[in-house]
Amino acid sequence: MNLRQTWRYCMGFQPFELERLQSHWEHEVEINLTESGVSPLTLGELLDDPRSRPFLFDYELGYTQTNGTKALRECIAALYPKVDASNVIVTNGGAEANLIVAWNLFLESGRKGELVLLVPNYMQLYGIWKNLGGRVRLFHLEMKDDRWVPNIEELKSVITQNAAAIAICTPNNPTGSILSEPDMHAIADISNDHGLWLISDEIYRGAEFSGSKSPSAYGLTEKALITSGLSKVYGLPGLRIGWVISTDSQKAEELWSYSDYTTICPSALSDYLATIALQPENRVRLEERAREKVVANWDVMKAWLDTNSDVFTYAPPEAASMCFPHYNLDITSIDLVEKLRREKDVLIAPGSHFGTEHHLRIGFGYSVDKLREGLRRFGELLLSLSS
Ligand SMILES: Cc1ncc(COP(=O)(O)O)c(C=O)c1O
Repeated sequence: MNLRQTWRYCMGFQPFELERLQSHWEHEVEINLTESGVSPLTLGELLDDPRSRPFLFDYELGYTQTNGTKALRECIAALYPKVDASNVIVTNGGAEANLIVAWNLFLESGRKGELVLLVPNYMQLYGIWKNLGGRVRLFHLEMKDDRWVPNIEELKSVITQNAAAIAICTPNNPTGSILSEPDMHAIADISNDHGLWLISDEIYRGAEFSGSKSPSAYGLTEKALITSGLSKVYGLPGLRIGWVISTDSQKAEELWSYSDYTTICPSALSDYLATIALQPENRVRLEERAREKVVANWDVMKAWLDTNSDVFTYAPPEAASMCFPHYNLDITSIDLVEKLRREKDVLIAPGSHFGTEHHLRIGFGYSVDKLREGLRRFGELLLSLSS
């Protein structure tokens, strides 16, 4: 019995399968196509103005303001209309943001609340809620023509009197799709009508192919919690800076007391560097960098999918550097991913880790040469499967 099976068997623990797959293999394989963000920046690229560098050496490495410095919270607030720094809690990555939100809402529900989750999804909220002892009900994004659209009728049908929150992710991991303005309003109205919190993970907002920011849940209902961070669009996952924005500053204050338990404060150096990254001229520079990368690399990805149209159907992503094609082979996504890794030294993510079988998440935001080579090898594997 491996570690994962032991956990499940002994404690009913829900492991975070996607993150564990990546932790195991991403630094072992020759070609890693599991990343959902764009290539990380070097410190030198972030501090491209040499005048900003000497300050680093004088920076005191102490504990910092535990909910994030005011300077950083103000920069984050400026990403959304009409947000004040008092509505922002800075966290260690988007991961901690989601953790404290789930923990708080689950306890607030008297430990019996249900989470209503849009899938496919990055399954962190799913796993946390289950591990807290809660129940998760699902509604789906469905591929219609060449778009992913949420099934709003299904959402209405899965809300029970025990529902505590609705959780969405837009731009969506793994599909790269964006919830339209009318769909966002419909979801927000439903959560409002039932007095539920709406958790909107918007960590991929800012890397839209069109260049216009995707609709945010902020301001659509009084009970909205936005989670996000610098790891994807801004190419700074190593800073581990994320945040929660609450429409209600009292809720922000409550969430702060949860982060007292989890990590106390963000790293002081990361808080400082994040404040530099979010200065208006840098923010625009980094968003543009991400957009150029996803648009250019998508051409390569799309051409490959079209060449293999006998196997794949897909809805083109509208943001972020990943796509989620359906394949029509008689093999589970975990087995297919494992075969590709073992035989070709290429790692991609199986659809089952996003709650959706017979799909694959392929990340295309890193080196274009590696992307080409990884897809070439995947093509070889597909040929061997069909012969
Ligand atoms: C939708 C989503 N939310 C949160 C996270 C976690 O982000 P971070 O690396 O900033 O903790 C990820 C990471 O892949 C993600 O895809």
